[in-house]
Amino acid sequence: MADARVVVHLEEAVGAISPLLYGHFVEHLGRCVEEGIWVGEDSQIANVSGIRSQTVEALRAIGAPVIRWPGGCFADDYHWEDGVGPRERRPRRVNLWWGNEDSNAFGTDEFVRFCRLAGAEPYLCVNVGSGTPLEAKSWMEYCNYDGDTHYTQLRRANGNAAPFEVKWWAVGNENWGCGGHFEPEEYAAAYRRFATYLRQLGKRCQLVACGHNTPDWNLRFLQGLRGHWDLVDHLSIHRYFNGGHETEFTETQYYALLAECMRLEDDLREARAALDLVVRARKRIGVIVDEWGVWHPQAHVAGGHVQENTLRDAVAAATVLDLFNRWCDVVTMANLAQTVNVLQSVIRTEGEAFWVTPTYHVFDLYRAHAGKIGVRAEVDGDRMAVKRSDGSSYDLPLVSASASVAAGRRQVVVSLVNRSLDSDVECRVRLEGGAAVAGRARRLWAEAANAHNSAEEPNAVAPAKAASAAKGSDWTEALPAHSVTVVEIALG
Ligand code: AHR
Repeated sequence: MADARVVVHLEEAVGAISPLLYGHFVEHLGRCVEEGIWVGEDSQIANVSGIRSQTVEALRAIGAPVIRWPGGCFADDYHWEDGVGPRERRPRRVNLWWGNEDSNAFGTDEFVRFCRLAGAEPYLCVNVGSGTPLEAKSWMEYCNYDGDTHYTQLRRANGNAAPFEVKWWAVGNENWGCGGHFEPEEYAAAYRRFATYLRQLGKRCQLVACGHNTPDWNLRFLQGLRGHWDLVDHLSIHRYFNGGHETEFTETQYYALLAECMRLEDDLREARAALDLVVRARKRIGVIVDEWGVWHPQAHVAGGHVQENTLRDAVAAATVLDLFNRWCDVVTMANLAQTVNVLQSVIRTEGEAFWVTPTYHVFDLYRAHAGKIGVRAEVDGDRMAVKRSDGSSYDLPLVSASASVAAGRRQVVVSLVNRSLDSDVECRVRLEGGAAVAGRARRLWAEAANAHNSAEEPNAVAPAKAASAAKGSDWTEALPAHSVTVVEIALG
């Protein structure tokens, strides 16, 4: 049995936890779009106008707040006009980064309809690498303008009388890599051009610049904007975590993955430092982590980037969501990669078979934090000395936690993740500034850390109600090894 202590400071607000921290990402990669989301109107699989009904319902059930599309690397080779109008006339194109070809059957109209069905906001990424400011501006005009222009007529002819009102626009993706191999100064110049026209047309839109998880890119990009920081609303960073093996991981790999996740905290600290240093108080720019997740070596192009998603990955996801909650004054959105069948997906399909992954359930549990006020949660207790993939050492606290309070301070939500592979933890919880009347807990747990769901056993890993000892201002919660627990506590 190991020990941990969590102190929740009810009076110390960090900021509002935007529901957008629990967002998703969809790219034309493997069977994410084709089969996972788009099955076509003639499919035997239940669909609404070609969009897979089970996927929509599952996303709606966890309150998916926002979905990013069309990439990823795919975005900087995507020409949106290929994907609108009668489907039989849409051109087939090479899928440059992810193999095979793309039929363009799933384009802007289909994506926005998918988001509306799922109850999520659409987040579009424009093509900077091989596109033009005109193409980007025309896309925004097609989506959002309500006048009588060529592009609004086109949207109406395609069956959409009302503008889509897409608020979120990323100006390129990984432009330091697959998005054109720009130098930061070159990207800053391109960004100024693209964003000038997007900002003028979309005054209420939010513009997202491509950042990096190295400080050098962010500093040089921000300096390269030469004072035009008003053109940037958010800076995006990406972070993937290598898990060794998807299911047959060793104890060392188990902990190394969880220690890798904590690198994101360094990324956030460094992104904020770059913004503080260059932009200072002249403009409030948020940080968006619009791609994150576990990327096992078993996920590759040839296999359509399918990987098994175990309870260990769910523990990793909970670790990251705790981080976002704790950094909710900095992080304005985050998008797990990728929604269906690819990388750390929340949904899996095999033809007609459909099931959700342990990570899906973490998103369901953590929804209790969304829209609340994040408050400081201090964690102390037993730690594990871990060697990270680059050979560096990291002292991983066995428990990860975050906390949020509802308006009116009648409820506090505390998430408690026991990251130990094999030790249960006695976790002392103390509320500073309030007392619990009662707690209601839900827990994700299974005997084995590599347990996962499948078409045959879709509920092998599923959340269940758990006992909570929450009472007064000090109590102990018993957390089983490799488990995720969310306690909703009524305050007196
Ligand atoms: O999510 C898969 C790929 O990972 C994305 O296309 C790219 O942006 C990132 O490198």
